[in-house]
Order: sequence, then structure tokens, then C-alpha cells
Amino acid sequence: MTMMVGLLAAMAIVLRASSGSAQTTETAAQQAFKEDVHATAGLTCAACHQGAPATYAALPRTAIAPLCGKCHSDPAYMKGFDPQVRVDQYTQYLTSAHGKRMSGGETRVATCSDCHGAHGIRRVRDARSSVAPLNVVQTCAKCHDDPVRMAAFGSRATPVKDWSASVHAAALLKRGDTSAPTCSTCHGSHGATPPGVTQVANVCAQCHVREAELFRASPKKAIFDQIDQPECLACHGNHRVEHPTDAWVGFKEPAVCAMCHDERMKGASTITATQKGLADMTAKIGAAEVVLTRAERAGMLVDDGRAALRDAREHEIHSRVLVHAFATKPFADMADPGVRAAQESQTVGERALHELQVRRRGLFAATVVIVGFLVTLWFKIRRLGGAGGEPHA
Ligand code: HEC
Ligand code: HEC
Ligand code: HEC
Ligand code: HEC
Ligand code: HEC
Ligand code: HEC
Ligand code: HEC
Ligand code: HEC
Repeated sequence: MTMMVGLLAAMAIVLRASSGSAQTTETAAQQAFKEDVHATAGLTCAACHQGAPATYAALPRTAIAPLCGKCHSDPAYMKGFDPQVRVDQYTQYLTSAHGKRMSGGETRVATCSDCHGAHGIRRVRDARSSVAPLNVVQTCAKCHDDPVRMAAFGSRATPVKDWSASVHAAALLKRGDTSAPTCSTCHGSHGATPPGVTQVANVCAQCHVREAELFRASPKKAIFDQIDQPECLACHGNHRVEHPTDAWVGFKEPAVCAMCHDERMKGASTITATQKGLADMTAKIGAAEVVLTRAERAGMLVDDGRAALRDAREHEIHSRVLVHAFATKPFADMADPGVRAAQESQTVGERALHELQVRRRGLFAATVVIVGFLVTLWFKIRRLGGAGGEPHA
């Protein structure tokens, strides 16, 4: 009985809430539509709604994509507005993880208006668009950061949090570097599906060309294909991509190689050589920097040393990329000249410091000679003065 009352009260609240929102959304719809790209193109509410304005209501979710697709798949119609416009969004959508399920009647996946909005749709180039690079993550997060919605599909709601903690998010959101990838860069927007295990390197290769080339040419490619490891992801992950360090190479945590390798397995000598190459280079570059700085502070010119150090640092950067050759020789061909350049730089600095010492020693010797000369002179003068005064006595 009390349950019935409670249920009725809840229903009443829901009804009141929904009728209230219907009234406000109608104005909200009109309000938002003023700046909508469709309004700008001269379309009206009737482009998407049927019947009298008073009866406009939310469209059934499965009907939305076919509705938007009606115009957006029609090249003759769309090219009347913009000859360059793409008309493949709906067909792409039908191939996506979202579209396939929606066509099957599953309405909790995304449709056009979930990503673009229904009213107040802006051009995708507009920074205020819900699909602009800086806003895409919030758009996907509406669902992919919602554990309840995702649990219904046996999926985790982790991509958004993980991506937000990545180097990519830092580059995009903190530094405004729009060349860094957000959700739709890697998944596509309309054909959104997770890339398969063997296509991952292609996704990352769009931007990390060199690492991908090296990986593909390396023995690791075939090995990972064989053990079904998803290329770059085995070491870097997909969403929470972090800044790697030299400590990633080796047989102990935090080395990523340690997930699979120990000292006895094939590849051990390469891992050891790579680890040593990286450590040597860092140590030598550090030592050279210390010596050069000391020389500069003492006023010595060490331009040659600075040039060699810059060269060493270049090699250091490229060596970190050459880790992806997963072989001793290509890595050493890059790292060894770097170590030599750092050594050379240190030598220039040491020579400068040595020269400084020699000069200081020379200065000291000269001072001793001059002081000695002055003292002798003084004695000579005194003796001369004494000799001059004596005869008068
Ligand atoms: C480009 C297509 C399009 C145009 C043009 C359009 N609508 Fe809608 N409208 C939709 C879609 C799609 C929904 C469903 C939104 C949803 O379920 O998220 C909707 C929903 C609504 C609803 C239900 C409440 C809501 O906001 O979800 C109202 C009321 C409404 N529209 C009124 C209008 C009015 C008034 C206009 C003209 C000023 C208009 N619409 C123009 C696509 C459009
Ligand atoms: C999962 C989110 C998502 C869904 C669902 C979605 N879009 Fe998009 N759409 C985007 C993103 C992101 C962009 C901008 C990036 C790009 O150019 O691909 C975009 C761009 C567009 C553009 C601009 C031209 C172009 O292709 O770049 C149009 C038009 C468009 N979408 C229409 C649609 C239509 C119609 C549907 C439904 C059939 C739809 N979208 C479904 C995310 C989505
Ligand atoms: C009656 C035809 C029609 C329908 C239905 C329609 N659109 Fe459009 N849409 C257009 C036209 C025309 C333009 C403007 C094209 C232009 O000027 O480049 C446009 C532009 C857009 C753009 C901006 C593309 C860009 O260049 O950045 C997006 C996004 C978009 N529509 C999404 C939708 C969505 C989502 C729906 C369904 C809710 C929808 N459209 C329904 C005709 C339509
Ligand atoms: C309206 C809610 C909603 C929005 C918005 C949405 N998605 Fe989804 N998406 C889902 C649901 C639900 C699934 C099905 C869950 C699953 O298969 O794990 C899904 C599936 C996916 C899948 C396939 C996952 C798999 O394991 O097969 C990808 C990839 C994806 N979405 C990417 C995106 C991207 C990228 C965006 C933003 C541009 C986005 N989604 C926006 C609800 C949404
Ligand atoms: C740098 C590229 C990249 C970016 C950026 C990215 N993803 Fe992914 N995502 C992947 C790859 C690769 C996979 C496939 C993972 C696998 O095969 O193990 C994946 C898998 C997924 C899946 C499938 C289920 C899962 O959790 O693995 C979903 C859903 C998804 N991504 C959504 C998103 C959303 C939402 C965003 C934005 C917050 C995003 N992705 C950003 C590359 C990316
Ligand atoms: C659309 C371009 C793009 C795609 C696709 C992309 N990245 Fe990146 N990546 C970047 C940018 C930009 C940075 C930031 C560079 C910086 O910090 O200066 C970055 C940084 C990184 C870093 C850190 C580099 C460092 O020195 O800290 C790693 C590791 C990385 N990405 C791996 C991946 C992997 C793995 C994938 C595929 C799953 C991927 N990226 C996909 C553009 C991309
Ligand atoms: C077997 C593990 C492994 C695989 C597979 C792998 N990487 Fe790496 N990656 C590393 C290690 C280790 C480093 C760190 C090197 C260092 O800093 O000394 C690194 C560094 C990077 C960096 C930063 C380079 C820099 O300038 O410091 C990028 C970007 C990157 N990897 C991209 C990729 C891409 C793209 C793929 C796939 C084609 C990939 N990686 C595959 C282990 C791996
Ligand atoms: C996901 C597991 C996994 C990870 C992580 C991994 N490896 Fe491997 N690696 C293997 C397997 C499996 C082999 C093949 C061993 C064999 O043939 O006995 C191998 C072989 C190698 C080989 C020998 C290739 C040849 O045939 O010439 C090298 C070199 C190598 N790995 C380097 C590395 C380095 C460096 C790292 C860390 C940055 C790393 N691996 C991380 C699984 C892995």
C-alpha cells in the first residue's frame, strides 16, 4: 500500500517534471535554432519535424539518423549549398559500432544528434561546435564516462579518464596543440570502431611516422603478430599514453620489456646493449654539460664544445626513437656517434679549463718575477742611496 502511494507520488513528480521541461524546451529549441547552421541555410523546423508546431516532440531515436541522412546523403541536394561537402556520414555511420547497433534497435548507442546536438548545430570548424577538437571528449564522455550505460554492454567506462591522463590530452588541452589526438582522431567520427589489433600501428603512424616505420621493419612486428600483441599498445597502451623514459628499457620495473623478457630469453643482448647505450649517453652528456658550464663561468670560450654537445643531444633524441628497431646495430649506429660527440664536447671543456690553469700558473710566475725584480730594485736603490751619503761623514 505505502509502496503504491510512493510509486504514484514518484510518477506525479516525473509527469510534472516532463511537462515542465517540454514547455521550456520548446522555447529552448527555438532559441537554440536561431544560431543553427540549418537556420542559416534557410531551413525551418519543418525540415525535421512534421505536423503542427505545437505537436513537435522528441523523435524516436532510431528515426534520427535516417532523417539526418536523408539530406546529408543526397549529393545533388547538399552540393547546392557547398560543392565541397561530404555526403558519406550516414553510410559511414551504418558501418560503425554505434550505427550497427542502432539499426538493430539498440537505442543507448550514439546517433547523429548525440554528437552534434539537435538544435543549435554548428559548423564543425566552429570552435563552439560539440565536435570541435577541444570539445569532442566531452561529447563522447556523455556515454563513455558513464559506468551504468557501459556496464549494460559489458564494457568499461575507462577511455575518457585514461585519455585525460595521457600525454595526448596534456598536449591538446593544456598546450592547445591541435595536432595531438582526441577520441575521434583515432576512432573516426562516423565510422567509430576500435581499430583491430593489426591496424593499431596505422593509427599511431598517422603522426609517429618514424617509430611506426622502424617497428614494422623490426623483428618484433612478426613476433607480436604471432603472439597476438597489439603493436604499439603492448608497451604504450591506447588511451593512457605516458611520457616514456630510458628506464623503460631493461629487465626490471618500470622497464616495459620486463613484462615479457628476462636475461635468458632471446633479445637479451640487444636489451642490455640498448640500456647501456642510453645510460652512457645520458651520463656523458651530463658530464660534458658540467665541464662546459664551469669553463663558461670562468670566462672561457667553448663554442666548439657547445656545438658538439648539441650534436650529442640530437643523437640522444634519435636514439630513443631507434629503440623501436629492436636490434643492436641500428641503435648503436645512432647512439655511438652521440656518445662520441658528448665525449668530444667534454674534452673541449676540459681543455679550456686546463688552459685556464696554465694561464693562471703563467700569471703567478710572472707576478713572482715582477715582485722579485721590484724587491731587487728596491735593495739596489737603498744601497746606492747609502753609498752616496757615506763620504760626508
Ligand atoms: C536538423 C533537424 C531539426 C530541426 C531543423 C529542428 N529540430 Fe527539433 N528535434 C530534432 C531532433 C533530432 C530532436 C530529438 C532530440 C533528441 O532526442 O535528443 C528534436 C526534438 C525537438 C523537441 C522535443 C524536445 C527536445 O528538445 O528534445 C521539440 C519541442 C523540438 N524539437 C522543436 C523544434 C522547433 C520548435 C524547431 C524549429 C525552431 C526545431 N525543433 C527544429 C531535430 C530538429
Ligand atoms: C560519435 C559521434 C558522431 C556521430 C554519431 C555523428 N557524427 Fe557527424 N561528426 C562528428 C565529428 C567528430 C565530426 C567532425 C570531425 C570530422 O570531420 O570527421 C563530424 C562531422 C560531421 C559533418 C561535417 C562534414 C564532415 O563529414 O566532416 C556532418 C555534415 C556530420 N558530421 C553529419 C552527421 C550525420 C548526418 C550523422 C548521423 C548519420 C552524424 N554526423 C553522426 C561526430 C559524430
Ligand atoms: C532538410 C535537409 C537537412 C536535414 C534533415 C538535416 N540537415 Fe544538416 N545540413 C543541411 C544543410 C543544407 C546544411 C548546410 C550545408 C552548408 O551550408 O554547407 C547542413 C549542415 C549541417 C552541419 C554542418 C556541416 C559543416 O559543414 O560543418 C551539420 C553538423 C549537420 N548539418 C548535421 C545534421 C544533423 C545531426 C541532422 C539531423 C538531426 C541534420 N543535419 C539534418 C541539411 C539538412
Ligand atoms: C549516446 C551515447 C554515446 C555517445 C555520445 C558516444 N558513444 Fe560510443 N558507444 C556508445 C555505446 C552504448 C556503445 C556500445 C558499448 C560497447 O560496445 O562497448 C558505444 C560503442 C563505441 C565504440 C566501440 C566499442 C567496442 O568495444 O566495440 C567506439 C570505438 C566508440 N563507441 C567511440 C565513440 C566516440 C569516439 C564517441 C565520441 C566522438 C562516442 N563513441 C560517442 C554510446 C555512445
Ligand atoms: C591515440 C589513439 C586513441 C585515442 C586518442 C582514443 N582511442 Fe579509444 N582506442 C584506441 C585503440 C587503439 C583501441 C583498441 C584497443 C585494443 O584493441 O585493445 C581503442 C579502444 C576504444 C574502445 C573500446 C573499448 C576499450 O575500452 O578498449 C572505446 C569505447 C574507445 N576506445 C573510446 C575512446 C574514447 C571515448 C576516446 C576519447 C576519450 C578515445 N577512445 C581516444 C585508440 C585511441
Ligand atoms: C593525430 C596525431 C597523433 C596520433 C594519431 C598519435 N599521437 Fe602520440 N603524440 C602526438 C603528439 C602531438 C604528442 C605530443 C608531443 C609532445 O609532447 O610534444 C604525442 C605524444 C606521444 C608520446 C609521448 C612522447 C614523449 O616524448 O613524451 C607517445 C609515447 C605517443 N604519443 C604514443 C602514441 C601511440 C602509441 C599512438 C597510437 C595509439 C599515438 N601516439 C597516436 C600525436 C599523435
Ligand atoms: C616493445 C615495446 C615498445 C613498442 C612495441 C613500441 N614502443 Fe614506443 N617506446 C618504447 C620505449 C622503451 C620508449 C622509450 C625510449 C626512451 O625514452 O629511451 C619508447 C618511446 C616512444 C616514443 C617517444 C620517443 C621519444 O622521442 O622519446 C614514441 C612517440 C613512441 N615510442 C611511439 C611508438 C609507436 C607509434 C609504436 C608503434 C608503431 C611504438 N612506440 C611501439 C617501447 C615500445
Ligand atoms: C608482450 C611481450 C613483449 C614485450 C613487452 C617485449 N618483448 Fe621483445 N620479444 C618478445 C618475444 C615473444 C620475443 C621472441 C623470443 C624468442 O624468439 O624466443 C621477443 C624478442 C625480442 C628480440 C629479439 C628479436 C630477434 O628475433 O632478433 C629483441 C631484440 C627484443 N625482443 C627487444 C625488446 C625490447 C627492447 C623490449 C622493451 C622495450 C621488448 N622486447 C619488449 C616479447 C616481448
